[in-house]
Amino acid sequence: MCIIKSNYLPIEESDKLNITYNTENKTFHLQNNNISYVMKIIKDGYIVHLYWGKRVNQYNESNPIAFYDRGFSPNPDPDDRTFSLDTIPCEYPTYGNGDFRTPAYQIELENGSRVTDVRYKEHRIYDGKPKLDGLPSTYVENDLEAKTLEIDMEDKLIGLTITLTYTIFKDFDVISRSVSFKNNGKENLKLEKALSASVDFREKDFELITLYGAHTNEKNIARRPIISGIQMIESCRGASSPQQSPFLALVRKNTDEDNGEVYSFNFVYSGNFVGQVQVDQYCNTRVNIGINDFDFSWLLESGERFQTPEVIMTYSSKGLNEMSRTYHKLYSTRLCRGEFRDKHRPILINNWEATFFDFNADKIEDIAKIGKELGMELFVLDDGWFGKRSDDKSSLGDWIVDRNKLSKGLDDLVNRITNIGLEFGIWFEPEMISEDSDLYRTHPDWCLRVPNRIPTVGRNQLVLDLSRKEICDYVIAAISNILSNPLITYVKWDMNRHLTDIWSSSLPAIRQKETAHRYILGLYYILEELTLKFPKVLFESCSSGGGRFDAGMLYYMPQTWTSDNTDAVCRMKIQYGTSFVYPPITMGAHVSAVPNNQVGRITPLETRAHVAMSGNFGYELDLTKITEKEKELIKEQIKVYKEIRNIVQFGDFYRILSPFECNETAWNIVSEDKEEFVGMYFKILSEPGTAIKILKFKGLNPDYYYENIDTKDVYGGDELMNVGITLTREKKDFISKLWRFKKI
Ligand code: DGJ
Repeated sequence: MCIIKSNYLPIEESDKLNITYNTENKTFHLQNNNISYVMKIIKDGYIVHLYWGKRVNQYNESNPIAFYDRGFSPNPDPDDRTFSLDTIPCEYPTYGNGDFRTPAYQIELENGSRVTDVRYKEHRIYDGKPKLDGLPSTYVENDLEAKTLEIDMEDKLIGLTITLTYTIFKDFDVISRSVSFKNNGKENLKLEKALSASVDFREKDFELITLYGAHTNEKNIARRPIISGIQMIESCRGASSPQQSPFLALVRKNTDEDNGEVYSFNFVYSGNFVGQVQVDQYCNTRVNIGINDFDFSWLLESGERFQTPEVIMTYSSKGLNEMSRTYHKLYSTRLCRGEFRDKHRPILINNWEATFFDFNADKIEDIAKIGKELGMELFVLDDGWFGKRSDDKSSLGDWIVDRNKLSKGLDDLVNRITNIGLEFGIWFEPEMISEDSDLYRTHPDWCLRVPNRIPTVGRNQLVLDLSRKEICDYVIAAISNILSNPLITYVKWDMNRHLTDIWSSSLPAIRQKETAHRYILGLYYILEELTLKFPKVLFESCSSGGGRFDAGMLYYMPQTWTSDNTDAVCRMKIQYGTSFVYPPITMGAHVSAVPNNQVGRITPLETRAHVAMSGNFGYELDLTKITEKEKELIKEQIKVYKEIRNIVQFGDFYRILSPFECNETAWNIVSEDKEEFVGMYFKILSEPGTAIKILKFKGLNPDYYYENIDTKDVYGGDELMNVGITLTREKKDFISKLWRFKKI
């Protein structure tokens, strides 16, 4: 055995944020106040991963790589049988020269070979964070908020440069990573795989957390021990999907909401992805994540460059709540953009579950009038206002008002609603086309379809080929035409099916596997254009609910309809799981009628409201059919939400009791200055003979005294967190409680 040991080299004490390159031992050290990330160039230019975790002031290689001669592990240097890529922690692993684990990228050359050999060439360290062309990404507002390291790796034989980009933020325990491939050679290169990040841990004592689900059952939490071999999550649906989320976390066995280490990865992308955790023969763990290589390739002609989307990697030594708050703060302040980023979001009334496709202007106005009386702020006209859309069989693509329903036109309805004193919002599903539409009759070749085959429909509709710029431009023009009415201040952007028949008439055969990624790039192009053109419009993303609730979409649209499932009990789980990564302000949450449309459950109006008030609040029911008593209750709920909106939308969210583990759910949200907080508790089914519950709040200032706004009881923050409050026992199902406390 031989150990490579560096000499002790004092590195200058950093002021919080630093990226250093130690020329003596060729070590890169990224650090902020709380975390460190360390890599090293070894041998003839291989980059290895040495450390990621709690900040160390100076890294002097106390954990050097141990080199052994291992059986079946090949050696690039014939004179050194202890060196093999198969056994070292590789920073961006390659295929074909000894590392048999899953590679981060793969390239096919013109001669059919898939072997590349990239070595360190040079690096740059600078203040700030670069934008990723045509892709969503986190950003800085001031270059001093972050530092970036770019490492160029080169394969001299073919003229390929792979640039690994790392940004470390000053105020977030986050490292973002992305990769670009530049073909500086003469021959064509075909990227077969191009992941955004890979990390090799020299241990396997982790459990894996992922988020999975289905339509109306999004963001369930899965936690399992990792074992030898690959455990994988993916989407090959053309969207990030509700089935698996582009998120994974490695945690220690004892990690819970408030204790223990968490290493998490979230992919800022809305299309196909893969995330893999591989435990190798020597109990090392490789995690990698990026665009799914299944059904993907990208032709890189001479001079061309390919940029991967970015991955946001967080480290927390204080459990999952801390991980989530890091994502929440980063995403709500440095991923979401536009003027709504820092604004209170309006309380809306949406007509979907109230009327479905069956409405006219008078009906809409009647609902809106009551909404205004009750304190709502925005009316959203959902599906069915355009073409001849009386059900989901027709008209997608024909973004022209249906005069059979709205006889005096859209502008007339907009005026009627805004005259009542509500803002006006409207639904689109711009990425789709119905076969029964004028758009399809004019352009039957505009959808994704394979020549001579009948395309597969989903919800009776086909998907526009957004890999084609002229189609994207049509979408921009059609939506712009409607939004040219400045009284329309909100858009709900829906997407109700996944991609099939992936083939584009604009691409040669060799580029067909680019179509799914080009679709997403086309979508991002449309969204960039529209959001820049209409900065005063609040965009909400939706994909049959949370079918595409991801960080990529949040870059363009700062809120997402969390789920088509509006049942309060189901929503506890869906919102709890969603909160792992996304903050309450991004989670559209509405009160709907009972029996619930999705599951038939009857829950109290108060419980439905408390669950919805934990997010971005609204209503979605026929207000003309509710009783006077319900009106009074709703009026009061809206009044309360307006009082707590600032805390819910801009505060710090703490999960207390998990609906995945018990019959209860609880969370509290604390204002940034810790002077106010809101607590919520839900008990799903009544139970006899159980313990009397004591609930402990989290994240308060232990030295503050807080007064319960309703009862005027006063307790110290320390008492509320450590001693807790006793909950009275009630003999009924679906109990909910909301507390508001304020510092005195
Ligand atoms: C799916 C959405 O999630 C619903 O809220 C609604 O907008 C329908 N589509 C309309 O078709």
